[in-house]
Amino acid sequence: MNMKTGLLLFMAISGTVSRTSAQTTDPLRFDPENYTVQTLQMPDGSSVSYKAYEGIHYVTNVEDPAYQTLNLYVPETLEAGTAVPILLRTYVGGYMASTAKTPSATDATGRALSEGYVVCIPGSRGSNSVVSENGKDIYTGIAPNGLLDLKAAVRYLHYNDDVMPGDADRIFTDGTSAGGAMSALLGATGNCPEYAPYLERMGAAPGRDDVFASICYCPITDLDHADSEYEWLYGCTNDGVRGLDSAQKRISSELAAQCPAYLESLNLTTPDGEKLTADNYREYLKKLLMASAHKALEAGAEIPDSIGIVFYQEKRLPVSGHLPEGMAPRPGHPQNGRPQNGRPEMLDGRGAPSFGPGGGAPRFNNRTDFVADIDLDVYLAYVASVTPLKTPPAFDAWGVLGSPASPENKVFGNEQGEPANFTDFSLRQHSQDGDAAIDPALQQRIYLMNPMNFIGASDSTLAGHWFIRHGARDRDTSFLVPINLATKLQNTGADVDFALPWNRPHSGDYNLDELFEWIKRTASAR
Ligand code: DHB
Repeated sequence: MNMKTGLLLFMAISGTVSRTSAQTTDPLRFDPENYTVQTLQMPDGSSVSYKAYEGIHYVTNVEDPAYQTLNLYVPETLEAGTAVPILLRTYVGGYMASTAKTPSATDATGRALSEGYVVCIPGSRGSNSVVSENGKDIYTGIAPNGLLDLKAAVRYLHYNDDVMPGDADRIFTDGTSAGGAMSALLGATGNCPEYAPYLERMGAAPGRDDVFASICYCPITDLDHADSEYEWLYGCTNDGVRGLDSAQKRISSELAAQCPAYLESLNLTTPDGEKLTADNYREYLKKLLMASAHKALEAGAEIPDSIGIVFYQEKRLPVSGHLPEGMAPRPGHPQNGRPQNGRPEMLDGRGAPSFGPGGGAPRFNNRTDFVADIDLDVYLAYVASVTPLKTPPAFDAWGVLGSPASPENKVFGNEQGEPANFTDFSLRQHSQDGDAAIDPALQQRIYLMNPMNFIGASDSTLAGHWFIRHGARDRDTSFLVPINLATKLQNTGADVDFALPWNRPHSGDYNLDELFEWIKRTASAR
């Protein structure tokens, strides 16, 4: 009897031992017994205890042990066999590497545990992850490697669904900014064969890598069109608050000029059934911003009177204070001359924007239902005044007018750590060669990093449910980027909850009550 036959015979007669033996011989098999118990103090004073499975390798050909692991957290109260959602939270930021983190009481991970959900926090390689080989630095996380790591982590969850707590058919991915882009990519590229050869080489688990739902906070995505979308939107500020010089203005207008054709090529339809083009885009954006302002006002927010929100100006009394014919003065309202606060009141009695002393700032309006319009140029100038805009090109900046490499140039760089341009436009500016073009190998990497290429593709499994947020004063990318993403998903038939939350800067995992209501509702959907 050779050793293999002997082992098989031994496994056949000893069920328990043979299962343990199988677990230890498959490095991608989850071991339910290998955990510690940890406790998190929640902001409301409660505490949540969970089993912590940490430092699990999700590929067999580990290239960068610092990042290619995942942590899994399982509420102690979870009964075996209960199918609960799994929140997969990536902490990728700036397209950099991210270690597998522990849960936080103040973000969606802690909240998910306290709701009784399983939490998975994978690490992933990124633009700054380096290993040393024969005395040389090798950059391990150039695109699309960080995404491949996250997809391998998803594969691990599916592969171990039978032995692991949590339901791999209810994976909700969550990330912010570059992490929001990763979340969108996970949602858009499920089981797509174009990633399979890479995943195989990495030693990822075989099988599925689709997810059920994707939560994307301010996704910095559609990188190969984002420069043009940024200039098309914010070009109106170039001579004002943005203060560009003439060389920058030339770059800005050349980039902006590319945008209408791109919008045309997307062939998107608004919820009103109109084709979305450069001609009606600003109106579409205005509607989204007005809905956001309106919601904020209803919740009691105060909106400055100077940022382009139009509060039914035509209903106001003329400054002289004369009432129109037939209109009785309200008690206390001065019939002649300016009202006490220096501003006419609304005729319908619901009040007018109040002014600071002497007409100075701050000027606020806290009424609930007066948003008539938005002066978009004024509003965009306001956004740019709160956080200075990026200079053109906003993303593929490297070498254009002497700009340093952006996070995106770094992640599209090579294994030696040299950044790369990823648009023909910037490459041509940088190289001063009007015929230069991105080489095909890099083109393929750029393609794999854009979720817009996979939404609606017949060979990708699209997440059915999407929660997308981009703050109404987030200028890290153009509003067009999340709007196009959400609209394309809606047009493809996905269930999309999309908003531009009022007064929000570039941030994520906020308004967790709203998010977890959505998760709860969505998890019970088919
Ligand atoms: C992030 C922000 C950016 O403005 C950007 O260009 C890329 C990434 C981030 O916060 O992850």
